[in-house]
Parts: sequence; structure tokens; C-alpha cells
Amino acid sequence: MIVGIDGPSGTGKSSTSKAVAVKLGLRYLDTGAQYRAITWWMLDNGIDVNDASAVAAASGKPTIVSGTDPAAPAITVDGTDVAAPIRGKEVTAAVSAVSAVPEVRARITELQRTIAREAAGGIVVEGRDIGTTVLPDADVKIFLTASEEARAARRSGELKGKDAQSLEATREALVKRDAADSGRKTSPLAKAGDAVEVDTTELTLDQVIECVVTLIEEKR
Ligand code: C5P
Repeated sequence: MIVGIDGPSGTGKSSTSKAVAVKLGLRYLDTGAQYRAITWWMLDNGIDVNDASAVAAASGKPTIVSGTDPAAPAITVDGTDVAAPIRGKEVTAAVSAVSAVPEVRARITELQRTIAREAAGGIVVEGRDIGTTVLPDADVKIFLTASEEARAARRSGELKGKDAQSLEATREALVKRDAADSGRKTSPLAKAGDAVEVDTTELTLDQVIECVVTLIEEKR
């Protein structure tokens, strides 16, 4: 059972994907964390993230290892635990530029396909291009959406105490990142033709989880 969950930032993808995987006994892969991890490595190594050829040339160097336990998602770069730093402001601001580089996408997509292939019993994979590019044959494809207001409010709630961003600054950063992710040439953020769209604006997290579980159980 391979489940792909795509959508823009702040739609509840991560919370939903993890909870669904726990409920159904599936593995879990956060592909955004992989793009954040390679971005973290580029920044840590002084590579100009806006220089696409420098990013492309370095893209094969770091070793990124993703855990697939939905109860304790883990990610390392060359053996260093980067779960916390990849959520910081610097990485968030740079990740869209790095993830738009075709060589980066080719490398990370290969990693993702290997992990999905090896996940005995099934996996929930969340991202932006899972249904369209990474796993076009996934058994279930979901595309989560929500209004811009709802997404900005959820994101600033999550950031409280970590980054003191105002709702407006959060909204601006989120809109900018989604526009970059949707507008890039190589596998942009997009709904696959055969994905089921779920608008989460008026739904609680539990309702979204329930809805996704039902869609998966229908296919089981
Ligand atoms: O999901 P998250 O917000 O952590 O993703 C961070 C970034 O990684 C996205 O804004 C996007 O640039 C990139 N990404 C991607 N393709 C994916 C998952 C994430 O390009 N499948």
C-alpha cells in the first residue's frame, strides 16, 4: 500500500500523514525534510543557494538518511542529526531555490523511490510531487488544500515560541514559497489528475485523518 499525500505548506500534510501511518501500521516518509536537509548542508558548506550550477555540482556530496518511523521521524546528513536545524528560518527561506535544481531533484527522487520500494507493508509519502512524479503508480493519491488564511494561521501557530514571526510575515513567506514551488520547471507542486482533493479549511485535524483513512481503506 503506497499512499502519496501532496499539497502546499500549512495544509496539515505532516500531521495527517504521520497520524494516518501510525493508525494503519504503515511507514512514513517526509520528503520535505529531505529537501530541507540538503539545503541545510549547502548552507553549512557555504554554497550560494542561488547559484544553481554550484548547487547542482555539490548535490551528490551529502549522504542523507531518512528514518521511516511515523512516531519518531529522524533525518541525518553525513551522520549528523539535523531534525531541529532544518526547521529554522534560514533553511525555510532557501529550500525552494535548492529544490528547484534538477540535479537535486533527481538525486532526492531516487532516494525516495528506493525507500518506498523497500517499505514492506506500505508507506505514506508526503510532499509536493509524489503523485505526479515520484510515485505515479501510488495506490492512493491525496492532494490537501486549504485557504491562504487557514494555512498562515496554522503555520504561525506552529512557529510560536520558536520564531516570533507575525501572522502577516508568515503568510508572505508561505505564499512566496508556494509560488516558487508551483512555478518551477522540474516537477512543480501540482495535483495529479487521479488524486483526490481534500479541502481542509473547515475541517479539524481528526476529520482530515478520518477522511484519508477512509480513502485508503476503500483501496485495501
Ligand atoms: O514540506 P516542507 O514545507 O517541509 O517542504 C519544504 C520544501 O521542500 C518545499 O517548500 C519545497 O520547496 C520542497 N519540496 C519539494 N518536493 C517535495 C517536498 C518538498 O520540492 N516532494
